[in-house]
Amino acid sequence: MAGFQTFHDFIGLQSFLKEKFHKQTIGLVPTMGALHIGHISLIERALEENDIVVVTIFVNPKQFNNPNDLKNYPRVPEKDLALLKVFDRVVVCMPSVDAVYPSNDPYKKVELGLLDKVLEGEFRPGHFNGVAHVVHNLMYFSRPSKAYFGLKDIQQLSVINHMVKSSSLTVDVVACDTVRDKNGLALSSRNLLLNKAQHHEALIIHTTLTFVKSNIKSLGLQETLRQAKELFNKGTLNLEYIDVVDRETFGPYKIDSTNNVCCISAFCENVRLIDNILLG
Ligand code: PAF
Repeated sequence: MAGFQTFHDFIGLQSFLKEKFHKQTIGLVPTMGALHIGHISLIERALEENDIVVVTIFVNPKQFNNPNDLKNYPRVPEKDLALLKVFDRVVVCMPSVDAVYPSNDPYKKVELGLLDKVLEGEFRPGHFNGVAHVVHNLMYFSRPSKAYFGLKDIQQLSVINHMVKSSSLTVDVVACDTVRDKNGLALSSRNLLLNKAQHHEALIIHTTLTFVKSNIKSLGLQETLRQAKELFNKGTLNLEYIDVVDRETFGPYKIDSTNNVCCISAFCENVRLIDNILLG
């Protein structure tokens, strides 16, 4: 590929892809930047499965229900580009708000039902409508065959699957395993906002999830959650929620299902962290 390409709108991206990659497969990795090894693993998977990979970097204002969260979201575009430059078949699109949401916006609102009402849906009102909208438009404008998302944001993944099924897009949504640091903390752009001590304190999240996975069969749902909260509260983080739900519908835990997932959200001072564990 002739040199590293960065676009700031979809018109340039589309004509480049049409000219150079006509009839080749496009993988899409949507991101909000502040790239880490988790994103790199999505890109590597996308490169294995496609001829070319489009990485979008766009901090989507529509998915932030809290203006301070939007303001404080880490933005390190030079670092991101330096990381991406090493990949041969990657093109980057860093679109403006107007490019993602043009006046003739192609998105038709999708009803998200329960997905938008429980857990993340309850605590971040409007967030998933913003995610569904942006992912729809990023897919619509870059026309990938496959798009890659991490399982760390498992409720987001269900929202995206639901949005794709309810729209005219023909994109395979590929779920990729959560990448963790050596102590078990799920990688997240927000970890950049944690100091060393907070990194250590945040490990209680994975410890608590592991406790739920190990004990739910013997203790049952209610007692496991009670003990899990007790364990979590021995640490310094503030628990927002912990619950076990169906990983696709986000309906209630079913004792004999292999689709249960335990999801957690907590604040480490003012940094909001989420994680989950599949219970199998
Ligand atoms: O997971 C994220 O980083 C964002 O929610 C996404 C999927 C890029 C949409 O803005």
